[in-house]
Amino acid sequence: MSRAATLVSRIDERTARVVVVGQGYVGLPVALRAVAVGFGVIGFDVATERVAALAGGRSYVSDVSDDELATALRYGYRPTADAAEIGAFDVAVITVPTPLREGLPDLSHVEAAAATLAARLRPGALVVLESTTYPGSTEELVRPILERSGLRAGDDFFLGYSPERIDPGNASWGLVNTPKVVSGIDDGSLRCVDAFYRSLVDKVVPVNSTAEAELVKLLENTFRHVNIALVNEMAMFAADLGVDLWSAIDAATTKPFGYMRFTPGPGVGGHCLPIDPSYLSWKVRNSLGRTFRFVELANDINEHMPDYVVTRAAVMLNQESRAVRGSRVLVLGLSYKAATSDWRGSPSLAVVERLADLGADVRAWEPHLPAVGDPDVPVPVVSCTVEEIAAADLVIVLVDHPELPLDDVADHARLVLDTKGCLRGRTYRGELL
Ligand SMILES: NC(=O)c1ccc[n+]([C@@H]2O[C@H](COP(=O)([O-])OP(=O)(O)OC[C@H]3O[C@@H](n4cnc5c(N)ncnc54)[C@H](O)[C@@H]3O)[C@@H](O)[C@H]2O)c1
Repeated sequence: MSRAATLVSRIDERTARVVVVGQGYVGLPVALRAVAVGFGVIGFDVATERVAALAGGRSYVSDVSDDELATALRYGYRPTADAAEIGAFDVAVITVPTPLREGLPDLSHVEAAAATLAARLRPGALVVLESTTYPGSTEELVRPILERSGLRAGDDFFLGYSPERIDPGNASWGLVNTPKVVSGIDDGSLRCVDAFYRSLVDKVVPVNSTAEAELVKLLENTFRHVNIALVNEMAMFAADLGVDLWSAIDAATTKPFGYMRFTPGPGVGGHCLPIDPSYLSWKVRNSLGRTFRFVELANDINEHMPDYVVTRAAVMLNQESRAVRGSRVLVLGLSYKAATSDWRGSPSLAVVERLADLGADVRAWEPHLPAVGDPDVPVPVVSCTVEEIAAADLVIVLVDHPELPLDDVADHARLVLDTKGCLRGRTYRGELL
């Protein structure tokens, strides 16, 4: 039997030992799904605080409940911060962060994860990178590090890339029912990657190369980033033109082809949109000396949105003969999007900081406080009571959390700036972004 056939049969029989390196928003759901379908899984993470929370049955990822975690811990999930516990693995998945450092891709976590695996790599094993990165990373960066083991990719071990499409807080589309793009550096690798993800998700989509799979992810995120920037730029002039952009978007959405709905907001956050497109523009500039203009423009517009929200807030208060300084402002929502406790790069934090800098008395409400690693919130966090709402000179809706008490906001707020269109259809005193 060939090496690939041996691994595929170990995967099919669920005797393959799996390690997921990085137990964050992406890695934890992957690890738990692998346990759910019958694999024994080591969840390795360098963050000891996170590992302790997981071992104690406490999930810090909103899409993973404590009950799901407890079940996984009973049926073969072992979180650890000790690399020695990784042992011999058959399948390793890398789900570590890929941030920007001073505007440039920082692949140090991927490099460290690959080095950890290289030290334990054995013939016949598979390594799959899931972290979002520029085209060429799997071949140019991960492969040479793994080959420091003395083993050759393709000949001795398998290597592939499969982008993660997880959408935190999305109740309809999760890991299992979202088709998963898979790739390998050669046919044997693709066979193994395909077999592993077929065991986890309903549908896999094989593509021609790891670079193509890497580009798929960046195409998807750049598409979203650019289209959000498009409606955000329109929001900034539609209000001045006296046109209701939100109604126009509703009407445009009735077109059954060639249009996809995006709505304005206070900016973009999370681990993906503010970062991933810049990986692609960096690669284009670095390899070809060209500029990826759409990304530069979208960054410029989306990064400006928190300032725009603060300007609109200031103008609204001015119309009430109030200055920002000394006004009481209640901000609703701090995470980067609805129904998640992910606060990374949240535009809400930028809005809060700017209002506080201008001297406003800012309070914030957020129903999804992270269980581990509290973000540094520079203002008091309060409950969204009728008293808090009524006491504010201005209420700003920044995140369309399902827990938002919309009736109370509409009925009791003296003035509202709704940046997410949550109050549309209700009677309230205020404005839409
Ligand atoms: N969060 C999302 O919605 C999302 C969606 C699709 C893709 N992605 C991509 O997936 C990757 C991971 O993102 P995330 O949101 O899960 O990040 P995260 O920060 O939530 O989790 C990453 C984890 O990796 C750990 N880590 C860092 N270096 C390590 C190492 N050398 N060894 C072991 N663990 C290490 C960190 O401690 C952290 O717990 C990124 O490339 C991201 O762009 C994220």
